[in-house]
Amino acid sequence: AAAGAPLRDLAGRRVLITAGGTHEAIDPVRFISNHSSGKQGVALAHAAAARGADVTLILAGAVTEPLPTGIAVERVDSAAELAEAVHRHEADHDAVVMAAAVSDFAPTGGGAGSKLKKTSPKAGLTLQMEQTEDILRSLVTNRERAGSGPTVIVGFAAETGDEHATALDHARDKARRKGADLLAFNNVAEHAFGSADNAVVLLDGSGSEIDRADGTKTDVAHAILTAIARLLTPSGG
Ligand code: CTP
Ligand code: CA
Repeated sequence: AAAGAPLRDLAGRRVLITAGGTHEAIDPVRFISNHSSGKQGVALAHAAAARGADVTLILAGAVTEPLPTGIAVERVDSAAELAEAVHRHEADHDAVVMAAAVSDFAPTGGGAGSKLKKTSPKAGLTLQMEQTEDILRSLVTNRERAGSGPTVIVGFAAETGDEHATALDHARDKARRKGADLLAFNNVAEHAFGSADNAVVLLDGSGSEIDRADGTKTDVAHAILTAIARLLTPSGG
């Protein structure tokens, strides 16, 4: 493109992005969620639309970020609803970016059907929970089984270091386990939830580093989209 011309390298590409944090119902008035603001996923949607992509954005939970115009937006609450929406859309998208923070556990059976009551003055509450579907893993498995599907599947990994391994080592393990084409790792010790800035290391499915980006969530979004665009156009043309 000419200097100063907007990058349109995703023109005609269909990009599915999930953002936000799921809400898992405990009962009709209460839920379990997480600290995801949805900012990085929404920044990806803005950046992808600016680069010419046809964007479908699935928002989990209560994302309050301003959304781009001219894209398809769907709102869901739970991990199960998010899984249903992603699977409905996966076959007709070239890239899927799982930026949503998906709850790993949900109250068994979708929660209680009626509001839980305090039965005695001091009785506590024990919740029965079950694991949710690993949507990212399903995307990879479905593509393997079908021999078709999105060309590029992208996951995120927010990690901390611990006594066993550094945050980056945990992310490399996760990249290999998940089998996604790209995994965007961020060290949660370095950036607070809801922050306008982010820093990521992009790993491929074997855990090798492809790129690093830090700056605003828009800067990081563009770096991720550049890696996606490269995978969508292997010739580099
Ligand atoms: N993810 C998903 N479905 C889930 C959980 C996570 O699709 N039920 C996706 C997230 O959107 C993210 C990636 O998987 O893109 C990694 O999420 P993360 O929570 O880091 O991985 P987990 O496999 O859940 O491992 P951990 O035990 O570290 O939470
Ligand atoms: Ca998890």
